[in-house]
Amino acid sequence: MQIIHANIVFSEDREHLAVHPDSYIAVDKGVVKGIWPVLPEEYKNAPLTDHGDGVLIPAFSDLHVHAPQYLNRGLEMDLLLADWLDKCTFPMEARYADPEFARLAYDAFVDDMIANGTMHACVYGTIHSEATAYLLESMDKRGIKGFVGKVNMDRSAQDDLLEDTEKSIRDTEAFLEKYSGNKNTKPILTPRFAPTCTRELINGLGRLGKKYNTGMQTHLVESLWEEEQARLLFPECSCDTEIYERAGLMDNGPVIGGHFIFPSEDDIRIMLKYDSYAAHCPDATVSVIAGIMQTGALLDRGLRIGLGSDISAGHHIGVYSQAARSVQLSKLKQFYEPEGNRKITFPEAFWMATKQSGKLFDGTGTLEPGAVFDALVIDGLSDAARKLSPEQVVERFCYIGTKENIKARYLNGNALC
Ligand code: GUN
Ligand code: FE
Repeated sequence: MQIIHANIVFSEDREHLAVHPDSYIAVDKGVVKGIWPVLPEEYKNAPLTDHGDGVLIPAFSDLHVHAPQYLNRGLEMDLLLADWLDKCTFPMEARYADPEFARLAYDAFVDDMIANGTMHACVYGTIHSEATAYLLESMDKRGIKGFVGKVNMDRSAQDDLLEDTEKSIRDTEAFLEKYSGNKNTKPILTPRFAPTCTRELINGLGRLGKKYNTGMQTHLVESLWEEEQARLLFPECSCDTEIYERAGLMDNGPVIGGHFIFPSEDDIRIMLKYDSYAAHCPDATVSVIAGIMQTGALLDRGLRIGLGSDISAGHHIGVYSQAARSVQLSKLKQFYEPEGNRKITFPEAFWMATKQSGKLFDGTGTLEPGAVFDALVIDGLSDAARKLSPEQVVERFCYIGTKENIKARYLNGNALC
């Protein structure tokens, strides 16, 4: 049993933050037992860590991030999706054929993700099994709860990133076989997106999804170009999402569709049917995608939405910055397309980044009793002339905070140094 004293903030529900100023939280074997304004007598002898004015919040979940693109962050951001993939992203991903290069890059990626308070993530690797296995094992060893995918692609990219269809399926099966029993970081099927995958490949992955009970991540209706390609290449499907539904990829485990910016009614219907998640990636949206998610409207229809850094279409690895950006983008959406759209609130954005997405990772993302204690202490955001309330500290952190404002990190109840 350990006791932590701080100001405590987490999402009560979609619209409300639960705020416990100057309170005590008890954690036993990595699980939250309770929160009190005055420490109960029975805990008086338990070890106490006092974070003073610090604000304790749940750690963040990143629902869409490309680890191999970490080295590209903040570069070539003046391109749009198709050109950005061909000129910037694919050449970088091809370098992960070299396991030594991959180790160096992936170590830095995992370190920076944790430093920025992300303890749960859905991560894309590359087509390369060895490099992607190293990424998954590194995250698993560090205790990060999440999913890592060996990317599948068998058309429309540079030659050294194209897989033979059969080999792609075989390599993926070996990856699932090896890691499906993992406790922390697990494998997930990762057909990159419709333009780079044949029907044969997607069907093969569907068979693996059933056999290994494994979910899927991909990019869904992310740009008008991608949506058009999906329709041209898979004319038998009414929408992008149906490509995966037809292959039986939607009901074996969690499904996370990156972006979901231009969905048709059919896309939305299918996502709702399977309780799938859309990963909203605000920075990526403004940099390479050029479209804005109907976040407020989709939330109101009950779609599960989490946030993604989408490194390196997005440039900032901290999911907290995406919470702020999602509020900003929802205002632009409402301004330019008022019909049916609304701005979202900061509590809604924080909920997407924590409690709502934490359901994918064993009920993390909250500090309610029973929750796994993955948490951060943030501080140093008030002004001498204006002390902020705990919830104001959280909002300001999302807008202007950096990893330097994260003063302590807890993973499964253990303090990380
Ligand atoms: N669509 C297909 N591949 C990618 C990628 O790597 N990043 C983004 N943002 N979109 C994609
Ligand atoms: Fe992406």
